[in-house]
Amino acid sequence: MSTYQTVLLDIKDTAAYVTFNRPEKRNCMSPTLHAEMCKVLDEIAAARCKVIVITGAGDAFCAGMDLEQCFLEPFDKPELMAQINHDAFGWFTRLKNNSAVTIGKVNGWCFGGGMALAGILDIVIAAEESTWGLSEINFGIFPGGGTTWAYANNIPSRKKALYYALTGETFTGKQALEMGYATNAVPLVGLDAEADRVVKMLSRLGRVVLGKTKEVYEKVKGMDFEAAIDYEMAKMWELSRETNDDWVRTALVSFKKREFKPGLQSYELTKDV
Ligand code: ACO
Repeated sequence: MSTYQTVLLDIKDTAAYVTFNRPEKRNCMSPTLHAEMCKVLDEIAAARCKVIVITGAGDAFCAGMDLEQCFLEPFDKPELMAQINHDAFGWFTRLKNNSAVTIGKVNGWCFGGGMALAGILDIVIAAEESTWGLSEINFGIFPGGGTTWAYANNIPSRKKALYYALTGETFTGKQALEMGYATNAVPLVGLDAEADRVVKMLSRLGRVVLGKTKEVYEKVKGMDFEAAIDYEMAKMWELSRETNDDWVRTALVSFKKREFKPGLQSYELTKDV
């Protein structure tokens, strides 16, 4: 596994653990971090991971973009700025569309671009004590680079969404859960245990079905009912083919033998599907 300056990567079995490692800068995302995340995602794809867990070292999840290195210093260097944006939005997009399940462990400060990151992940477990904020307004811009998309798609109440974007007021991980930005919130001391519990559940499931579940959810959201049925059934046969019909030939055969109750548990994977 490669070593990086700004990110720690640890791949255990089918899970990849990514830690932003600039605690002295509250894990804000520098150009180096963006370039390194492109390589980290290559490594994770090559390892065929089912799950990607992202967190921050120290007391921050991510304090957003590095305001000095991503904006102030390259402001009059358009080519450099374009390269930084290419890397940043490239890995954000790849992460959002990743076939692995992406999980955020929001352990502390989470601002601006950090909220974009939390917003594109599939599952977010927040420390109740963590502090979140759309701080862009405090220095005179609106949330960009995917952050408006992220907060608009994760805070269902327009009144709450606009309130936080317009005032820059911070909110806690507990409030993030109430608004739907986080899947769950637990006291910081229990954050690792809760994430491990979720990773364990996902690790028992098939790689292909996890990826297709995400893909179908994202596509179907924009379809009418009839189109959704057609698309879902087409994808179902695609899944079946790509997994050698494992759902019928292994899972349902096992159910017929009364070896497991699908309502309460998953079937035993016999091959890497
Ligand atoms: N960009 C660049 N440097 C940063 C950033 C950032 N986003 N966030 C923190 N740092 C640096 C600080 O400048 C400081 O550097 P120094 O040690 O060289 O002085 C170091 O990280 C530690 O920060 P402190 O402010 O001393 O830490 P503290 O724990 O007191 O406060 C907090 C943390 C609240 C996160 C504060 O650092 C802060 O307000 N950061 C900016 C958050 C923000 O608005 N991010 C931008 C969002 S908008 C976007 O992403 C596009």
